[in-house]
Amino acid sequence: MDKKLHINLERVPKHVAIIMDGNGRWAKGRGMSRIFGHKNALTAVRESVKAASKIGVNAITLYAFSTENWKRPKLEVDALMSLLINSLKKELPDFMQNGVKVNSIGSTDQLPKNAQKVLNDVISETKNNTEIILTFALSYGAREEIVNAIKNISKKVVNKELTLEKIDENTINNHLYTFNLPEVDLMIRTSGEQRISNFLLWQMAYAELYFTDVLWPDFREAHFYDAIIDYQNRERRFGKTSEQITE
Ligand code: FPP
Repeated sequence: MDKKLHINLERVPKHVAIIMDGNGRWAKGRGMSRIFGHKNALTAVRESVKAASKIGVNAITLYAFSTENWKRPKLEVDALMSLLINSLKKELPDFMQNGVKVNSIGSTDQLPKNAQKVLNDVISETKNNTEIILTFALSYGAREEIVNAIKNISKKVVNKELTLEKIDENTINNHLYTFNLPEVDLMIRTSGEQRISNFLLWQMAYAELYFTDVLWPDFREAHFYDAIIDYQNRERRFGKTSEQITE
């Protein structure tokens, strides 16, 4: 059965964010190292981007490396950075062919220099693509992002480029890493954990949250569509009553 047929293409989320969790457990279950799990995560990344693009999602954001992930063993951090570098290089022709515009959020200046270079090159090469924006959250933490936004807004107030009265939600939006992305409509987390883990805290204020027990390396196009179908069966009220929504 083609699950895609059950999707209402008029009501597709504009922006889907994913916490790709469970690589370590997937590998452990096979008696392998955690790094083996990360290497086997790439098919799931590819399938999710492909699925999102096919149904007309405008933006997909993947939590690839959090600020807290720096605390993992050096061997694992190094392996994740190598994986990032190699897969970005390898996927570039596919990004070009499929109109994928690559973007990043986070304190990417903390990444090793060679990773920054490859990332910036891929961002620059793909900047005119228009099918879908694929954002990698790298060295990303939502609280840090909000602290940075507050500092930058405060500087403008001190420099008299902005007055206190003028600060509103748009001011905050425009000072986050995600200033150029739509609001998150749907957040998917794999592996059965039900947490947000410092991901897009401000941007997910009204997002629908979808949790699945599938471990990230096993996540496929059909699982992505399951999440979309579940999202479409929910009623998004944004604080209003059910009657107001159906009117
Ligand atoms: C969570 O699984 C996964 C990560 C911390 C890293 C995500 C990285 C990838 C999907 C690799 C490919 C990404 C790019 C951008 C090339 P976990 O290690 O926390 O798993 P566990 O909870 O089972 O231990």
